[in-house]
Amino acid sequence: MSVANRSLVTIDDLSNGEIEALFSLADEMSDSMSQQCNLCQGKIMASLFFEPSTRTRLSFETAMNRLGGRVISAVDIGATSLAKGESIADMAKVVGSYADIIVIRHPWEGAAKVVANYAGVPVINAGDGGHEHPTQTLCDLYTLRKERQSIKGLRIALWGDLKYGRTIHSLAYALARFGATILFHPCPGLEMPEHVLRKLATRYKGKLKKYEALDRVSEKGLFPVDAIYVTPSIPHQLTMIPDISIEVELKAGVDALYVTRLQKERQARAEEQGIDKDYPVVDKELLKKKKFKRTLVMHPLPRVDELAYEVDGDPRSMYFRQAARGVPVRMALIALLLGAKEVTIPEEDEYSFVPCVDYPVYQRDSGLRCCNPRCVTNQETEMRYIKPEFKIANLKPLTLSCVYCEHEIQPGYIASTDWHEGKLENKKYHSSSSRWIRKIKPEKLVIFDSEAEAQARGFKPSSYVK
Ligand code: NCD
Repeated sequence: MSVANRSLVTIDDLSNGEIEALFSLADEMSDSMSQQCNLCQGKIMASLFFEPSTRTRLSFETAMNRLGGRVISAVDIGATSLAKGESIADMAKVVGSYADIIVIRHPWEGAAKVVANYAGVPVINAGDGGHEHPTQTLCDLYTLRKERQSIKGLRIALWGDLKYGRTIHSLAYALARFGATILFHPCPGLEMPEHVLRKLATRYKGKLKKYEALDRVSEKGLFPVDAIYVTPSIPHQLTMIPDISIEVELKAGVDALYVTRLQKERQARAEEQGIDKDYPVVDKELLKKKKFKRTLVMHPLPRVDELAYEVDGDPRSMYFRQAARGVPVRMALIALLLGAKEVTIPEEDEYSFVPCVDYPVYQRDSGLRCCNPRCVTNQETEMRYIKPEFKIANLKPLTLSCVYCEHEIQPGYIASTDWHEGKLENKKYHSSSSRWIRKIKPEKLVIFDSEAEAQARGFKPSSYVK
């Protein structure tokens, strides 16, 4: 399958084989950087960065320049017509009529998906709020591949702000797909969101082990890993011996510490709440521990206080290499999406994952809203054109996942549209935990947040309302 003319909104938009092929092309780009200047001649990339950026924006622009293309850019939302109330969709249509490819960073979660839906040209998500940052993940995986040959079987600790760090979310999905084991080391209060954990467990069929009182079993305070995600195909001690085996696990070493900064811009009261005081720090002292002897220290950058400058000269430190590799990786990506290069997709290995789980979709003109205030469906003015849309990710309990930001809701009440077709006498609603959830076909389902909403829409309670 060709990668040309596609968009990269989430890391699941590329299969494992396509990522491998992209890395081979990135190697080629890196080996002959100066010979690529005709590849995208005559092409224009629009670079829209509505949140601060140094590395991502400049490496994208460098990449396009190196490929011989040209760049147009907008970096201040206040200087665009979005500030006048223009919709993201209209902006996308217009920019798509000027440029051959669009790179967008936006504070709203799901904004890149909206741009991709309307632009008519390939769109690359360069970070949409706290949701995803797939091209940073490509740089991270590329670095792991370069340093450790294969990602399969590696043990990677995700460190810091797991709640709001978009790089963390895209990376966790990719690591799961490539067969790595993930250790979670969050700053207290900034644990991995439930919807990300659920996706790791259901979509990628991983096993999640939670250790509530971990200090009991790990060396005191040293590495209080909160949870361990184990990929299914790797025989794992932890799955058989819970609790005490955490010690064994950590003694076996950690292949990479992926450190991230506190995402202050997404949590207005972080300092007030003192969250920054408990933020875990990686320094020389920590890296002296035996279990970190061969550990790569990674960071998407920028760093603040969570990663000491004293480790910069350490051969295990990878972060400046990760950033530098952003150029060949993004050159490869742009060239592929523009169809300037074709690649052979390698045979997928046993861990290959083509993201094609088809959950039924739920979209109605009125009713349910996404629970995430930073979701594009809650931010875009009065939703003139974006209708909230969900995937029905689970029935027991009924769980809907927003197609834009992936946050989940568990609504309490349901009904069937059969009343509408005269098959039922009364418009009745039931509890979503009742047996009706399996009886009503997804296309006939009407879902309510509350009884008040069901009643306001003319439904009466059935005997299946608890
Ligand atoms: C990251 C981002 O913007 O999410 N930076 C980057 O793109 N390299 C990480 C961060 O800002 O903390």
